[in-house]
Formats: sequence, structure tokens, C-alpha cells
Amino acid sequence: MRPLHSILTLSIICASIIPSLAQVNFSTTNFVGAFAARSGVLESLRPVSSPAFDFSPSDVFSFRDGPGQYHTGDLTFRYRTNGGDGWKDADTAALRANLTNSQADGLLLSGLNVALPDVVAALTVRRTWSHQDGDLTLSFTIQNTGSGTIELGSLGMPIEFNNIFTNRTATETTAKCVLVDPYIGLGAGYVQVTRLTGTGPNLVVTPLNSDSKLEAWRFLSEPEDVPLGYRIQTYEGNYAWQIYSKAYAEQEWNETVPWNPPTSKILAAGETLTVGLRFSVAETVQQIESTVASVGLPVAVGIPGYVLPRDLVGRLFINATQKITAITVEPEGALNVSLSGEYPSSWTGYDVTANDRTFGRARVDISYADGRTQAIHYWIAHPSTAAISELGSFLTNEQWYTNTSDPFGRAPSVITYDREANDYVLQDNRTWIAGLSDEGGAGSFLAAGMKQSVSPNAGEVSKLETFVHEVVWGRLQISSGNETYAVRKSLFFYQPDLVPGYVYDPYFNWTSVPGETWNRSAAYLVDRTYDYVHVSALYWGLYRAGRTHPGMLTRQEPDWYLLQAYHTVIFAYSNASDGTPNTDYNNVGLMGETVWGDLLADLSAENYTAEAAAMQSIMHARQQVWASQPDPYGSEMAWDSTGEEGVYFWSHHFHDNSTAQKTVDAIRGYMPTVAHWGWNGNARRYWDFLYAGSIQLARIERQIHHYGSGLNALPLLSNYRAASDPGSLQAIYNLRVGYGGNQGPLSNIDVGGFGSMAFHSYPDTLRWDAYSGDYGPNFLGHVLGAATYLVEHPDFGWISFGGNVRESNGSVVTVQPKDAVRKRIFVAPVSLYVTIDSGEIADFTYNVKSKEVQVSVASDANSTGGYRHGDAHSQQVVLNWEQTAQQNKTKMQLDARGLRQGLGGYIVEVPSAGVTTISFTACS
Ligand SMILES: *[C@@H]1O[C@H](CO)[C@@H](O)[C@H](O)[C@H]1NC(C)=O
Ligand SMILES: *[C@@H]1O[C@H](CO)[C@@H](O)[C@H](O)[C@H]1NC(C)=O
Ligand SMILES: *[C@@H]1O[C@H](CO)[C@@H](O)[C@H](O)[C@H]1NC(C)=O
Ligand SMILES: *[C@@H]1O[C@H](CO)[C@@H](O)[C@H](O)[C@H]1NC(C)=O
Ligand SMILES: *[C@@H]1O[C@H](CO)[C@@H](O)[C@H](O)[C@H]1NC(C)=O
Ligand SMILES: *[C@@H]1O[C@H](CO)[C@@H](O)[C@H](O)[C@H]1NC(C)=O
Ligand SMILES: *[C@@H]1O[C@H](CO)[C@@H](O)[C@H](O)[C@H]1NC(C)=O
Repeated sequence: MRPLHSILTLSIICASIIPSLAQVNFSTTNFVGAFAARSGVLESLRPVSSPAFDFSPSDVFSFRDGPGQYHTGDLTFRYRTNGGDGWKDADTAALRANLTNSQADGLLLSGLNVALPDVVAALTVRRTWSHQDGDLTLSFTIQNTGSGTIELGSLGMPIEFNNIFTNRTATETTAKCVLVDPYIGLGAGYVQVTRLTGTGPNLVVTPLNSDSKLEAWRFLSEPEDVPLGYRIQTYEGNYAWQIYSKAYAEQEWNETVPWNPPTSKILAAGETLTVGLRFSVAETVQQIESTVASVGLPVAVGIPGYVLPRDLVGRLFINATQKITAITVEPEGALNVSLSGEYPSSWTGYDVTANDRTFGRARVDISYADGRTQAIHYWIAHPSTAAISELGSFLTNEQWYTNTSDPFGRAPSVITYDREANDYVLQDNRTWIAGLSDEGGAGSFLAAGMKQSVSPNAGEVSKLETFVHEVVWGRLQISSGNETYAVRKSLFFYQPDLVPGYVYDPYFNWTSVPGETWNRSAAYLVDRTYDYVHVSALYWGLYRAGRTHPGMLTRQEPDWYLLQAYHTVIFAYSNASDGTPNTDYNNVGLMGETVWGDLLADLSAENYTAEAAAMQSIMHARQQVWASQPDPYGSEMAWDSTGEEGVYFWSHHFHDNSTAQKTVDAIRGYMPTVAHWGWNGNARRYWDFLYAGSIQLARIERQIHHYGSGLNALPLLSNYRAASDPGSLQAIYNLRVGYGGNQGPLSNIDVGGFGSMAFHSYPDTLRWDAYSGDYGPNFLGHVLGAATYLVEHPDFGWISFGGNVRESNGSVVTVQPKDAVRKRIFVAPVSLYVTIDSGEIADFTYNVKSKEVQVSVASDANSTGGYRHGDAHSQQVVLNWEQTAQQNKTKMQLDARGLRQGLGGYIVEVPSAGVTTISFTACS
């Protein structure tokens, strides 16, 4: 928070200089609003359907009226004359000059040259606010009145809406604020402005004409030492819609490959260019795409999204009024795009598959007859199962730290890794990153533990058991006395007198922010509830490895790990002898706590009835608190996207449908679906590079596929499965966003198996962070959410999220799961969710007529690193199933012949070669 006196000083100054001139009010069929008095920028934009709500931060406009503070309606550009000189900058916000505005045919006309005194006289720049079919439009006309050519190397239209959370309570923030997400899709690009409630109305910003493509999305620097702050946790900042970006690509962005090819525009003598934006209302997030289509833009829908494992056939559907004239791929040949057919409601379908040798970013450019190009951005990953086995290997080999003379007692462990240095991160002044705790330091062992829960490997399990017995139990976690099971905040600390002879790296300033670098007593505090999730998940992962693969654990029985996980949770929710709670933040949703649902189910399955009841009652009490709060998504931050996962999980668990639904709405407010792997299912996060990323790029910056993606996907997917009509577009929207979020964490795993904490989205960076940091919670979400869905889409027919569909004889649909775990399937028409705890679902079929579902379960003998199941001839797999929507008209039953009940489900004997087929039939 900023000191109050600076706020007061500024408001007094403003009050004395603001002239009595009134702002210019306007109205169109769909909006009412106001342009600022002197600058004519957009000050207020309220939808007629909900006139009390303002998309613009009009209530703090007086704090943002200074030079260098951008608004919608400003213009920035770079130009050079006659091909010579360097690029010159022009920016209407730089001086914040007083314009002469007039109200003629349009809503407001302004000559902008007054604000651009240094710009060459030959350039005339005018702005028009107008309206079209009830929408608001903004256009800029740039004319070269001289006799030479002028090249525009950059042309950026700043976009400002109310994403300012500063000085607002959580409830006010939710009620008043919006989030801004781009689809950097060239001529089909758009920006969506969604409300934090997730319930709309929302704003859609589209190009006014085919010259106004969204080529790049540039973060705008602004003065930061201002009352509202800028580029801080409560104010991410603003971006510009870049029509041209060549001048940036040549200079500031010359170390990156931009999302789209950078272009410029040469204005010949006398030539005029008009570009602009159109602002439309989409009442719900589900209507954003049809709103985009309604202004004449093509819409692309990728299934399951735009992160494409190489063994998955991606489906791409295009809804366009213009004919497609060409499809090209960059890098050439990275993807094969082949026509699959025409579909109802003007959709054209393509199959998209990755070339065997490609990895990473790829772009599909679709050209249309009107000259527009649409860019669709893909990430090509290794086949999911290969990617997670590579990750498991990387974590337990490259990240396996063995120096047992470490003075902090961190070895052996899976420790934070720096991919640029290709080395462990053993020191950092953000102590926890090197201290095996907090998300930033625990992330790697959390990922390794979660991996064993679904794909245990004997060698990896053995190392993690060693880590538990030598480092976790007794060091990271207190193993005796009245604080047994307490989890410390960090094993690493800064206190030179306690580690004589140890050299703290002088690269870091160890004392720059008092209290931020922990000494031992601060590091050894046990009060951060979040840390209890990591340790309990590690134990649970090992429990599952041992339960599903008897004999794989060598240090303790599976139940020991299960009970360790349980007691770890219980400590976090108990009180100290003086009556104070053992931990803080225990009544907010915790990153990754969905795993506690699995822990609870397994306590019941193993007949730990009293333990299950105790845990149930703790979680119920928390849920009751959330049920009573208007905005139950608190965290360590002023606004966050971390609490919702836990709030949803327990609200759903305890059948509090209204809190669950409100939470899913909130998630839809900060998680978009657009045709770009980086933003599709990417939950809004922008500050954790500071706390878990490489020190080189520790800054506020929008993150791509930080852990919000994997974690927030869990509620959306669960909510999708519970839908009464899972074949409707309304419901499928959740599946699209949720699956995008679930696939996000796959893109973080590099070609060698290293998992990065997030991707840097600033156009001068565009690369994965070098630190593993807090990738663990993202991977947790990936593992717990991985499943293959079969849906009959109203327009596209049979599609799968996560699998490859084969329609055999017209009535039987066969799907091969290609998701990371191949243990969970959902058959939408009958709301059937089937899960197995080990082995693999080789394929499943759905008979469209009889509604019978057959699931082929195979052994996982090939992926367990030398482990042999019992007699080596068969594997015992626990199968569970449910119909996730009571409303589904078809009641299904399991053909349980030959199965016995156990561990809360059915035990299926699976041969080491071949499959066991399980059938579900419709009750007649
Ligand atoms: C704009 O006009 C106001 C009121 O006349 C004046 O106080 C202010 O200095 C002017 N701003 C600039 C940049 O000229
Ligand atoms: C912050 O809130 C206080 C109290 O409501 C108010 O006086 C102050 O002007 C606000 N500051 C900003 C920058 O909005
Ligand atoms: C990149 O641009 C910077 C200026 O922004 C310049 O100093 C540098 O030489 C450029 N590098 C290359 C490889 O062009
Ligand atoms: C598809 O295009 C048609 C025609 O432009 C439009 O009416 C419809 O809303 C579009 N649907 C979507 C989801 O884009
Ligand atoms: C850590 O060290 C860096 C490099 O000296 C410094 O910029 C930063 O402020 C320090 N951070 C903390 C939390 O002390
Ligand atoms: C570390 O940061 C503090 C506080 O900003 C500063 O006083 C000190 O000089 C810095 N130390 C070094 C070595 O830069
Ligand atoms: C453990 O005992 C110490 C010393 O009496 C006390 O300060 C602390 O609060 C106790 N912790 C718990 C969890 O009861």
C-alpha cells in the first residue's frame, strides 16, 4: 500500500487544476458513457443492459488524467520518413494536451496533432468516436499530406478498462472490475473484457476493418509512483492493440520470435489510412464468440484446445462468412491441417496433427477471400504419457540433490532447478525457493509425488521415499514433540552466524527488503497452511503408488503414508495449547487442495472411518464459512485466482450448489477460451514471477500457464460433468475452458522433461521462465484433471477432449484416450464417469443406440520401471463409476459379474497382456 499522504496531495492538486469543463456524455443503442473533457478519451462505458456497471475506471479517472497514463482512445505510433532515419515515437498520452473536440456526425471528432507537437507536419491524425448498429466505434485516420513516403513501423491503440483493484475491498473489486484478455489472431483477433463476477455483461473489442489486425499485444509503461500504483499486484496495467509492430520487433523485441510476423505500413504521398475498433456487448461469456461472429469476423474453435500432444488428432472448426483461400503453417510442415468436412451452422472442420519431429510453438494462418488472415497459435507437446514420464525422470535425476553435507539439511531431495544454468537453485534471497517449501520451493517434490500417484516408477518412488524419511520427516516436518506434523516454511535461511563457513552468494542482496529474506526462526515457522498441501500430497502420491503396486514401497507400508498425509492436514487445522490456530490462511481455499478430496476418499476406502469423519468435519466447517461470504476467495493477495479451486471442491462435495455455481462463474470471469495456446484456459495470474521465478525476470508480468491454469480447470471440469445437458453449447463452454486449463501444464514441460513455472508473455521475452519454481501445483491440477471426454457436439458431432475418436459402424463410437493418465473417461450422453486407480484405459466404446459403454482396461506393466505385479500375470485395478448428473434420463448399471468390491470400488483383474473389458448398460 502507498502512504496515504501522497494520495491526498494528488487529489488536492487535481481538484485545483481540473477545469469546470464538463465531460462529453454519449449514448448509443447498446451503451451510455462519457469522453473526458479535454482529451476526448473514453472515461466511462456502461452497457445499457446494466447501466450501473462501468467497464471503464471512471471512478478513479481523476487519478489517471496525467501525462503518460493511457486510456482507450489514445494512439501510439512509430514512423520514419522516406525510408531513412531511425524510428520516431508519437504518443497522444505523452503530454495529455487539451484538444479541440467537436460533435458533428459522429459522437466526437478530435484532431490529435495538438497532442503530437513533435510529429512531422506531413502527418495528420484525427480520431472519431462514432457508432454502428448500436455499438460504439473508435477510429483513427492518418493521412500523409506530404510529398514523400512515411512508414508506420508501429501503430498501437491502448486499451484501458477497469482492471484497477487498488484501494477496493474484495467485494467491490468483484462488483466493479473487469479483466482484459486478447486473442492475438491478426485479422480475426479480438479482445474480451470480462467481469470478475463471470456473469456479464462483457465487452468484446473487434477490429473495425480489415486494416485493423491484432498483430501484437504490447504492455504499456506508465508512471508507477502514482496513487493507484501501476504494474503492481492490484493493478496489472494496460496494453496496446498493435496493428503494426515491425519497429518493436527490430529493436526492443529483437531477441524473440513474435506471435505474428511483424509488419509496417508505407503511406505514400497523399495516402490515408483508417483503422479502429468496435465495442460490442456480449451478455454472457458463452456469447463472446457469437458476438465476434456477428460483426463479421471468422471464429475458430480448436478441440481439445491448442496444446497438441503429438499422438492426438486435434480438431479445428472455423465459422466464417468469407471463403478460405489458403492455409499455411509456421514453421512450415510443423502441423498437418486437413479438411474433415462441412458441419451445420456454417462450420468447416479440419484435422490438425503434429509432425513427428516438431516441438513447441507453431502457427496456422488462415487466409480469407476478403484479404484477412487469421492466426491460430498451437503448442506441440510430446505425447502426454511420454511427457510425464520425462518429467518424472528429470525431477528425480537432474533435480535430485544429493549433497548430504548441505548445512541446511536439504539432501537428498527434489529441489528447485534453474534451466538456464542447468543447475540446482541452492540459494536465493527469496528463501523458500531454495528451501523446499512454499509453492516456489516445494513445487518440484510436489510434482514428483503427484506423478507417482498415477504413473509410479519404481526408481522414482524409491528416491521419494528416501526424501521423505531423510529430509521431510524430521526436518521439513517436525517429527516429535507437541508440534509433530508441523510443516516448516523453509529449510534454507539467511543467518550467517548459524552456518559458519557457508558462503552466501553475493549476487543476491540478502538484506534489501527487511523481513523478506528469512532468518532461521522465520524460515522454521510452521504457520503457512498452503505448505501442508504439498507435504500431504507427496505422502498421498506415495500411498497410491504403494497401494496400486504392492511391494513397490520399501521403507514403509502404504498406510503409513496415508496416515502421514492425514495427520499433516489435521495439524494445520488444530489449535495450539494456548488455543490459537496452528496455521494462518486455513479458512481460505488452498492451491491444490482438491487432492485432499482424494485423501478423504482413500481414508474411507481403507476403513479409517474416524479419520475420515474428522477430516470431513474440518472441511465442512470451512465450507460453511465460505457459504456465508459474498466473496469467499481470499488468499495472501488482494485479489487472486487461487482460492476458488478449494471453495468449489468442498462446496460441490457438501452439495452447496449455489456457492459452487458462484465459484464456477467467477472462474469463467478470469479464464478465457481463445484460439491461442497461451491464453486458452489461462487463468489470470501476473505476480508470481516475483515469488517463484528466476531472479533475472522477477517482475509483475502476465504469466502464461502458471498454476492457475491446471488448478482452476478442476472446478470447470467437475462442473461440466455435473451438467444436466452435457451436450449443450452452454455446458461445452466449461469443458473447452477447463480442458484448455488442464492442457496448459503440458506445455510447461520442455523437450527434455523440465517443467517451468510459467511462460513470460511480454513480447520482448516470450519464453519459459528458467525456474521450476511453483510448477508443482500446476502439474497437480494436470494429473487430477486428466481425463478423456466423449461428447456429441450440436454442430461438430462426436468429438473427444483428450482422445482420438473413431466412429466404426455408425452406431458405435470408439475412443482411444491420449490424456496423460488414461485412467478416467467421461461419456457425456449418459453422464458416465469411470475411473481406475492404476492400469490404463486402452479404449472405450459407446453404442449410440443401446447406450452401452464398454471400457477396455490394460495393465501398466510397461511404464513402472521394472516393477512386476504380484505373480506378473495380472494386475488388480480398482474401478469406480458414477453418473454425475442425476437429471440424466438414462440410468446406467455396471455389469459386475466377475468383479468383487473393495477399496471403495470394484476390483478388476487385468492380465499383463491383453485387456479386461468392463460393460455398462442402460437400465431398461
Ligand atoms: C489544459 O487546459 C487546462 C484548463 O484550461 C489547463 O489548466 C491545463 O494546463 C491545460 N493542459 C495543457 C497540457 O496545456
Ligand atoms: C483510497 O481510499 C481512501 C478512503 O476511501 C480515499 O480517501 C482515497 O482517495 C483513495 N485513493 C485512491 C487512489 O483511490
Ligand atoms: C536489438 O535492439 C537493441 C536496441 O533495442 C540493439 O542495441 C541491439 O543491437 C539489437 N540486437 C540485434 C541482434 O539486432
Ligand atoms: C457462426 O456464424 C454465423 C454466421 O455468421 C453466426 O450467426 C453464428 O453466431 C456463429 N456462431 C459462432 C459460435 O461463432
Ligand atoms: C534479491 O536480490 C536482488 C539482487 O540483488 C535484489 O534486486 C532484490 O531486491 C532482492 N530481493 C529481496 C526479496 O531481498
Ligand atoms: C541491499 O539493499 C539495501 C536496501 O535497499 C541497501 O541499503 C544496500 O546497499 C544493498 N546492498 C547491496 C550490496 O547492494
Ligand atoms: C508447543 O509448546 C510450545 C512451548 O510450550 C508452545 O509455545 C507452542 O505453542 C506449542 N505448540 C502447540 C502446537 O501446541
